[in-house]
Amino acid sequence: MKKIFIYYSLTGNGDMIADHLKRDGYDIRKIKVKKELPKSFLFKMLSGGFKAAIDYKETLVDFDHEVAEYDEVVIGSPVWNSRLSTPAATALKTLDLTDKKVTFLLYSGSGSAKKATEFIHKNYPGSKIVNLKEPKKEKEEIKKL
Ligand SMILES: Cc1cc2nc3c(=O)[nH]c(=O)nc-3n(C[C@H](O)[C@H](O)[C@H](O)COP(=O)(O)O)c2cc1C
Repeated sequence: MKKIFIYYSLTGNGDMIADHLKRDGYDIRKIKVKKELPKSFLFKMLSGGFKAAIDYKETLVDFDHEVAEYDEVVIGSPVWNSRLSTPAATALKTLDLTDKKVTFLLYSGSGSAKKATEFIHKNYPGSKIVNLKEPKKEKEEIKKL
């Protein structure tokens, strides 16, 4: 059974999960965007929160949307303003996940993601959601995988 982790990470939590899943036999595909959020905390939060709220379409860099060879697809996204991050949401729209086993790994400061959960239940019924609270800091969280 072939499996892949497709994810975005701005500050490293997603990267840590990717390292873990790579050891478990997952292929890894990181989503990259042309323009990252600003470095300053305030502008980062304002810009990312706003983009997530309006479902902003990012320009992805060299993103391979082909997943036909995989049985299992795990989508990883940080939570922005309770939603999927815009890089992950943009990439997700290009994936044909029909008949795949799909899991969403959501990493966040709070460990919950109300709007993202509603979106996933509505658009990807049958998929699984795992919430992790800052796995880079909270090492125990990785055991949820
Ligand atoms: C723009 C922005 C918005 C965020 N909004 C939320 C939020 O609504 N709820 C939450 O629990 N954490 C929120 N966070 C925190 C991140 O989801 C959290 O730090 C996550 O682990 C980051 O993953 P990464 O290091 O892979 O980028 C936000 C972070 C950013 C940058």
